[in-house]
Amino acid sequence: MKNEVKIYCPATVANVSCGFDTLGFALEGIGDEMVVRKVTKPGVTITAITGEDLPMEAHKNVAGVAGHAMLEGIQADFGIEIEIHKKIRSGSGIGSSAASAAGVVYGINQLLETPRSNLELTTYAMKGEALASGNEHADNVAPCIYGGITLITGYNPLRIIPLPPMETVYVGILHPHIKIATKDARAILPKEVPLKDAIIQAQRLAGFVASLYEWDKQLFVESIQDVLVEPYRKQLIPHFDAIKVLSEQHGCIAFGISGSGPSMFAFAFAKAHIETYLTASKAYYKQQNLAVDTYASRIRGMGCMQID
Ligand code: HSE
Repeated sequence: MKNEVKIYCPATVANVSCGFDTLGFALEGIGDEMVVRKVTKPGVTITAITGEDLPMEAHKNVAGVAGHAMLEGIQADFGIEIEIHKKIRSGSGIGSSAASAAGVVYGINQLLETPRSNLELTTYAMKGEALASGNEHADNVAPCIYGGITLITGYNPLRIIPLPPMETVYVGILHPHIKIATKDARAILPKEVPLKDAIIQAQRLAGFVASLYEWDKQLFVESIQDVLVEPYRKQLIPHFDAIKVLSEQHGCIAFGISGSGPSMFAFAFAKAHIETYLTASKAYYKQQNLAVDTYASRIRGMGCMQID
């Protein structure tokens, strides 16, 4: 049995426009690394953080809180030391806090003689996510742990369904360099929504899920829309509407806010469309003196994995 593991934990896109707090998928090629080490000292000790300026005190750190929840949940007779090597920028909207929360619980699991289920790991990771966002949502931590695309059909009890992969879809991520705290992006949302909007959104989510099982491209495209959240949150993202138009002009078939933003995702059926769209939007933001990061990926991303 190993006493130390190195974990890769991917970036994720939550909500996917039609599934607020419900849908999410793992990205390829962008993720954090963590080292999780079994020690005799009880509790969680953070020994190193690179790439971001985050609290070293375990109770103030997403990974520390998630790790503590799991040690307590499994009644561990050991503690852990963790190193967190951030590649995903915090406040970027592609699941930075989720990667830390998911990575640590996945890492602890590799050190157990009797590993726990992905569902149980997700419940612990959600405790860490709650520290960052003020709310125990699982739409980033679930795909980070399970990989692929996940659907949450209930929080009480937690129920997660891995959905059929979107094999022929490419995704582009555009991250303008501003920070949006998930807590703030949740605070601006209305507490109640009109019934007609709730119906439209239920139809979109149902259509999206059905489109994956039957791989109905037309239904897929029509379903990725958001009348509940995007109208409020897009105001936090400079030039959101202009970038959406660019995505359409370059052949992308869907566009929306990634999680709580400011990152935006776009889908296309051809890699070239994502590439030209990302180049054009980067140039657009450069004219506005705003730096951006871009990522292009397939949507068949692996979840957390042990890399050493
Ligand atoms: N569903 C969450 C939200 C995801 O949009 O607030 C945060 O990344």
